[in-house]
Parts: sequence; C-alpha cells; structure tokens
Amino acid sequence: MADLLVASDATRVFPLELDRKYPVVVRGEGAWVEDSNGKRYLDAMSGGSMAATLGHGRREIIAAAAAQAAGLSYVHNDRVTNPWREQLAAELVEVAPPGMTRVRFVTGGAEANETAIQIARAYHVERGDARRWQVISPAQAYHGPTMATLALTGRPGLQAPFGPYLAKHRHIPPSTWRFDPSGEAALAALDRVLEEVGPENVSAYFCEPITAAALPAYTPPERFWRGLAERRDRHGFLICYDEVVTGIGRTGHWFAAEKLPLVPDVIATAKGLGAGYAAIGGVLCSDHVYQAFAHGSRRFTLGHTWDGAPLSCAVGLKVLEVLRAERLIERVREKGPGLRDELAAALAGVPLVREVRGHGFLLGVEYVDPRDGKSFLPPELGVARRVDLTAMQQGLIVYSTMPTRDGFAGDQTLFAPPFTTSDAELTQMVERFAETIRAVVRSLEGELA
Ligand SMILES: Cc1ncc(COP(=O)(O)O)c(C=O)c1O
Repeated sequence: MADLLVASDATRVFPLELDRKYPVVVRGEGAWVEDSNGKRYLDAMSGGSMAATLGHGRREIIAAAAAQAAGLSYVHNDRVTNPWREQLAAELVEVAPPGMTRVRFVTGGAEANETAIQIARAYHVERGDARRWQVISPAQAYHGPTMATLALTGRPGLQAPFGPYLAKHRHIPPSTWRFDPSGEAALAALDRVLEEVGPENVSAYFCEPITAAALPAYTPPERFWRGLAERRDRHGFLICYDEVVTGIGRTGHWFAAEKLPLVPDVIATAKGLGAGYAAIGGVLCSDHVYQAFAHGSRRFTLGHTWDGAPLSCAVGLKVLEVLRAERLIERVREKGPGLRDELAAALAGVPLVREVRGHGFLLGVEYVDPRDGKSFLPPELGVARRVDLTAMQQGLIVYSTMPTRDGFAGDQTLFAPPFTTSDAELTQMVERFAETIRAVVRSLEGELA
C-alpha cells in the first residue's frame, strides 16, 4: 500500500472532506493504530466513531467471526431464524432496562433510529391512533445521515441541502449552561411545541439520553427528565432513546437509560454491539409496544438484508462475553469520573476551555472565546479543526466539531477511548490532549487580540 497521506486528488474514494489529507491507517492493537509511515496514534475515539469499544486486534472476536463465517455466515431472517440471533436478542433483553422484551436487529445506528421511528409510528397505528406521526426532539443532536434520521435533528448546518426531503419534525433547545441550566426552558419549549402541533399528533419524543458528538457528554438536568415523563403520561406519545453510542457500556452502564429517572419505550443501539468487528445494531422495545403488534396486525415486516445475520450476531455475542468476562463496563464506571477529573485538571486555567463533561468513557470539552469566557469562538478561526490536526501531530486521535452555525454549541471535542485502554494509556491520552490544547492556544495568540 502506498506510503502517503491521501488527498482527494490521489484517490478513487469519495472522501468526507475533499481538502483534508488523510493518513492511511494500516493496523491497530489495543488503544493504538498505526499509519503507513509507521507513526502510531493513541486512539481516544475508539476507531474514530466510538465503535471500537474493546480496542483493536481482539483475537477471540476475530476467531469467533471466522468460526461463524465457516459454519454459517449468512442467512436472511424473513423465512428462517438462527440460534445466534435468538441468543443475542435474549441476552440484550436481560441487560436492558426493565420492561424491554423484544429486539429487532439492523446493520447500524441510523438504521436502528429509522426502525425506532417506524416502530413508534406503527405502534400508534396498530392501536387505531393513526394521527400520530410527529416527532419532537432536541435540536442539537445527531441521529444519522439518512433522510428520516436527518429530519430528527434541528440543525440547519447538517440538513442543508436536503431540506426538501426531510419530514417537518419539531425541536427544542438543549438545557446547557448557556441556554437553560435548570431544564425549565426546555420543558416550556416542549409544552409550546405540543400545543402548536397538537399532542394527539405526536408519535414520539426522540433523544440521546447522553449526547455523543453533537454536544459531547451532555445530558439534560433531572428536572427535564421528570417533566418529560409526566408529559408522556399525560399525552400518550412514546419516548425513544438513541443509544447508538451510549448503549453497551460506553457510559459505565449497559444502557445510559439505567441512570435516568424514566424508562423509555424504545431504545436504538449499535456501535458497541459490534465493537468495530461487525456492522450490527438493534432496536429494543418495551412489552407494551410489542403487544400493540401482537394484538394488532401481527406484522412489522420492513427490514434489511443483513438484519440478524449469523456472522454479525455471533460477533455481538462474543462482544457481550468479553465485556462480562473482563468486567469492562464496571471498569468504565469506576474509571470514568477519575478520567474526567484528570482531563479537567490538565486543562485547568486554560481560558479557552469552559467545561469538561463526562459520563463513563464519553467525555466532552467545550471551548469558548477567552475574551469573555462565554461566546462561541469565531468560526473563521477553525478551532475544532486545529485541535484535531494538532492532536494527530501529537499522535492522538480525538474528534472535534464546530456546529456554531446551528446556534446551540460552538467548538468542542469528544474524547471516547476504548474500554480496554490501560491506566497508563489513559494518562498518556490526557497528556497528549493537554499538550494539543496548549499548542492550539499558542497558535491563536494574535488572532484573538
Ligand atoms: C448518537 C448517534 N446516533 C446515530 C448515529 C448513526 O449511526 P451510524 O453511523 O452507524 O448509522 C451516530 C453515528 O455517529 C451517532 O453518534
């Protein structure tokens, strides 16, 4: 393989950013990946997308996948089922929040969320309540790039130029320190939206229980969750959690839902279920949702070619086995607060950094304009991009974004290491990140005069 940074004019791949040069990553082991020049990076983003929760090169998962591929790799689920799919569904139900009794497998996060939207809508139709279609969700979120999931966020910056294809769902602002520290404004906004669209037309409230890249490690205040639960009881919509990132251990629990004061009706999960070794997601639903189908049409037939295939389910089973055997979710729960504190201490006194948030191994760093300590940074400074490029130079992979034009968050960095990262490697990640931020601050001198 060529020894280079790949730019858009040197490849047949259609890259995400045409003016970025991409290192060619050729191997990985544990929390490290290596590029074609032999440069090693600490992977503080679990493969870049938070999927590789168990680190790279896990031989037992690779062996399980190889054995499964040799025995029965693939069979579709419309006329037959298979033991791995059955067992994985049973194991997920066992670790899911109370009341979740059924699982539909899919191939990834956006598919899981789309299926959740469809299940919520079909649930109401099955019950003879066909008016309900509208979804309400927090604006500052990401649920996937498909038309249905893109419509779930309220971010014009992400949705352009696809607006004409997107369903007109409604959104409320996040309850961050900047907009609504108590959660009351979000509840008032929710009430306003319910009033405007008519609660009898609302199918679901859809959200990440703890946000990933869109607003790293943010979760609304408890007051909001309790108010949301009251409104569900009053108005009869469902609550769907996008646990594509937070599911399967990322926050130190099987599902982030466990720690919130309400039980959702539907949970979509994906990344950590395959841990980067298979493309698999799942949608869990509570028994009362399933019973609407069981007592109704007894059908929900939409699905995809790879849903519940033996190969991906066998990988999912092995992933759950490794998580249990190595007590990795417990490790994330125990180490998470210390990691957040270490990161906060390493960045203390840097006026660019306003907040360091964390839940388990999902951490976020929020930047502000140091001149007043609260405004978004001027977008033309491109701080998020500087952070990521500088980190790469330091041999560290993090993920920064600048959703400033959406109006709810400015430059920010997500930090989500594999659960298997050793204590020494976590410390090294923090050190490299602090050095990155110091270098970015130096690079901004003069530009922020
Ligand atoms: C919270 C969240 N939901 C949904 C998705 C979409 O998942 P996928 O890329 O597997 O379709 C992502 C992807 O990053 C995500 O972070």
